[in-house]
Amino acid sequence: MFQSAAETLSVALTVSRALLSNSRHYCKKTPTVLRVSEALSGAELGTNVKVQGWVRSVRPQKANVFLHVNDGSSLQPLQIVAGPELNDPLLTFGSAVEVTGILRKSPHQKQPVELEADHVHIVGQCNPVDFPFKIKERHGLEYIRQFPHLRCRTNAFSSLLRIRSEATTAIHSYFKENGFVQIHTPIITSNDCEGAGELFQVEPSASENHENENFFSVPAFLTVSGQLHLEVISGAFSRVYTFGPTFRAENSQSRRHLAEFYMVEAEVSFTQSLEDLIKVMEDMFRSTTEHVLAHCAEDVNLFHKHVTPGHRDIVDAVLKKRFPVITYSEAIDILNRSSEKFAFPTDWGCDLQTEHEKYLVKHCGNIPVFVTDYPYDLKPFYARDNQDNPEHTAAAVDLLVPGVGELCGGSLREERLDLLRARLQEAGLEDTYSWYLDLRRFGSVPHGGFGLGFERYLQCILGVDNIKDVIPFPRFSHSCLL
Ligand code: 4AD
Repeated sequence: MFQSAAETLSVALTVSRALLSNSRHYCKKTPTVLRVSEALSGAELGTNVKVQGWVRSVRPQKANVFLHVNDGSSLQPLQIVAGPELNDPLLTFGSAVEVTGILRKSPHQKQPVELEADHVHIVGQCNPVDFPFKIKERHGLEYIRQFPHLRCRTNAFSSLLRIRSEATTAIHSYFKENGFVQIHTPIITSNDCEGAGELFQVEPSASENHENENFFSVPAFLTVSGQLHLEVISGAFSRVYTFGPTFRAENSQSRRHLAEFYMVEAEVSFTQSLEDLIKVMEDMFRSTTEHVLAHCAEDVNLFHKHVTPGHRDIVDAVLKKRFPVITYSEAIDILNRSSEKFAFPTDWGCDLQTEHEKYLVKHCGNIPVFVTDYPYDLKPFYARDNQDNPEHTAAAVDLLVPGVGELCGGSLREERLDLLRARLQEAGLEDTYSWYLDLRRFGSVPHGGFGLGFERYLQCILGVDNIKDVIPFPRFSHSCLL
């Protein structure tokens, strides 16, 4: 009945050995799943791993087949070394694979690590004849734009997507580190912040709209700017921001306009002057750009080397200097003194066009330049009146940048109830904006803010000419693919 102590110990040892051997067996059977970037870090050398991704190149040689596999986690692919028995004609450029094997230090300088495969499973085949991208070919941005459903498979566009993601993180970090609170402003709104009439109206589709009346009982639109909602919150929070999609029914095929774009908007209470806003814009631009250059170096280099050669020098020059500030009146003087022939008029009172903005940037040494104090009549109802005679300007500021022109637009807001009411009355908007007037009746403070076009920012730091090449799914007039 009773076992001796020695017998008990022996049974226990046998059981634990069996468990250990099972667990070793188990480890071998279930390799650690690694992302390509994790595999490349070299932390798991000598271990049995599984990597999943898409084939970026295939080189069959006598002794081995070499594959490059990428999963979007880094620009650099992981090299897979597979014995000839693992070669398969279906292992083609673009196919999806799952590879298991041991991670080894690579004997070649080009890559730190390679995966010695013991199993290659083709998860999804890709016919290289029909696939629009060809192995080893560097396709231009214009070409890949024709395939919005496939262009993330190219190196250039996957780099762009990682840069976009990192720049988003950098912008949120900048605001967090500087005491701003993020506000989710609405996508659907009943107001037209900019008053420019570029609104998309929102209603249920005809089949749902049986009563044929406004779903929200009032006309509602996709937002053109979160500014007015930020202003509401800035009545209680001295630093707020929002970063989200913005919509404008611009009937334009330009290289810097989209119907749907992302805008970063900030609002600061208790401002003393435009300088307070200029400082936030410049600091945000610098800190975001420095973050992206440091955290996405390989991806940015791909652009600066192969897509927009020479652009890195421009970015470096931009970061070295402080951004100059000129008034609108000075800008008009500069334009009128130049020998350049402009298509649009440059009289005082005319809005600055892209050609003027680009000229001003060049004139200032091809670095970003702030233009302040625009004619009052050019600016929306919320802009603060400088009350200067005879010029009559508003405390508004635009940031113009190389290659793009206007990147940011901002202003001090009219916080004085009587002046704001008079302007709204003049525009016949007093009733519509009675809630906005309330903000001036209850604890109004000097405040201001700005909006930065996120796609234009990416164009600026990467040197990309067409805004459609810096957003995953571009929407513009006569085009809403996918
Ligand atoms: O100058 P905008 O119209 O300013 C506003 O909407 C203010 N309410 C923002 C604020 O003060 N909170 O737009 C801001 C920026 C522009 O400078 C430009 O970079 C970008 O948004 N932008 C566009 N980007 C792409 N496509 C379009 N159609 C754009 N319209 C404006």
